[in-house]
Amino acid sequence: MMAPFEPLLLQRERSEGRFGRRIRYLPRIDSTNDRALALMEAGEPEGTLVLAEEQTRGRGRRGRSWHSPAGLSIYASLILRPSLPSEQLPLVSLTAAVGSARVLLSHSLLRVSLKWPNDILLGGKKVGGLLSEARGDGRGTGVVVGLGLNVNHEEKDFPKELQGRITSVLLESGRLWDRQHLLSEILIRWEQEYEKLLSVGPRDLLEGFECFSEFKDGSRLRIDQGGESVCGHYAGLGPRGELLLRTADDSVQSFSFGDVGRVSEG
Ligand code: BTN
Repeated sequence: MMAPFEPLLLQRERSEGRFGRRIRYLPRIDSTNDRALALMEAGEPEGTLVLAEEQTRGRGRRGRSWHSPAGLSIYASLILRPSLPSEQLPLVSLTAAVGSARVLLSHSLLRVSLKWPNDILLGGKKVGGLLSEARGDGRGTGVVVGLGLNVNHEEKDFPKELQGRITSVLLESGRLWDRQHLLSEILIRWEQEYEKLLSVGPRDLLEGFECFSEFKDGSRLRIDQGGESVCGHYAGLGPRGELLLRTADDSVQSFSFGDVGRVSEG
């Protein structure tokens, strides 16, 4: 195993900021999102980060599992209490996506892109994902945003069925990475995007997402919403981070969830 995280050091580094100023570190846990949701419901303040070396029941979007071997990745879930109307909550996970992409780009990983809503890609292959879960209580709505980022995986560290389809920062760059340093940088950029969203609104965030977007205006896409799928041309993101598709009758439809992929023209 690579060097483990040093949560006290990370916490000290982040003491001036909000994200990660308190860290709950667990070498092994079922899911950092589940633990963060329980803590949030018990009143934990905004900015607490649940961090693990390994997950035994890591969860992905739409009921999928998230392969979570020990010591290679970042598995981290942040507790947030955004003062935003509920329809704007999907924007919160975009702050994590854009913040993470900016960090990878700052390390000259030029092939970084984002696939709506929550996938981080390197060279067109998935390197990370975000799972955002909201819960309301008497005092408002809290959100847990979980980040899974494949950092130091070699091809053999992925399950057979995923080999060749997903990637890691190591595979893209050819070198090992300090996970703690990468996480610290991600927390800083993520916090900046979040503060900006709350103080001046979503414009910069949406522009940032567009810059990194895997899809460009006009790309022909199919969105699958569990049983139902719709084809159309990518028309950007709406003001709440929803996906816009121009469909055959030239109307623009907006989607708040789903799996998106390219379809060939024809
Ligand atoms: C996806 O792409 O489907 C989202 C994957 C999110 C995985 C992370 S790992 C840390 C956190 N804890 C979980 O159980 N899931 C998220």
